[in-house]
Amino acid sequence: MNNKIIIINGPNLNLLGEREQSQYGSITFEKLKENCLKESKKLNLELNFIQSNIEGEIVDLIQNSRVNYDGMIINAAAFTHTSVAIRDALSIFKKPIIELHISNIYKREEFRHKSLISDLATGGIFGLGANGYILAIIAMQKILKNEN
Ligand code: DQA
Repeated sequence: MNNKIIIINGPNLNLLGEREQSQYGSITFEKLKENCLKESKKLNLELNFIQSNIEGEIVDLIQNSRVNYDGMIINAAAFTHTSVAIRDALSIFKKPIIELHISNIYKREEFRHKSLISDLATGGIFGLGANGYILAIIAMQKILKNEN
């Protein structure tokens, strides 16, 4: 079917709606999840929307995804800038990857300008707020259908 996707969210994204609204807006994690599930359903994608604060858990998720999913959207949050382990796991996932950030990481502190995963991604979305998730789902559907 080629329609199973996973959205992996890294640390502190569970507190969307509460944390730094100037960067991430007011949408809650639960509402974001609901919106993503709705969009996926519309596009006939089967979505697993998941969050973890734990680096090793995210590594396990990525490893398991290589057999269970056709594409991955990942907002690795702070681990984007620090985690060689997540990078290494992503390099084993030989399917489409979209890197996602709610904020524009290049407009922020210098330590956020470096992503350890961008060169492994098919493409990326940043700075477009929570809507970036919806855009990423639409882009992934086109990639999986070879319409990109
Ligand atoms: C983020 C940007 C990261 O720098 C930050 O650590 C996050 C969220 C974003 O979605 O804009 O937690 O990935």
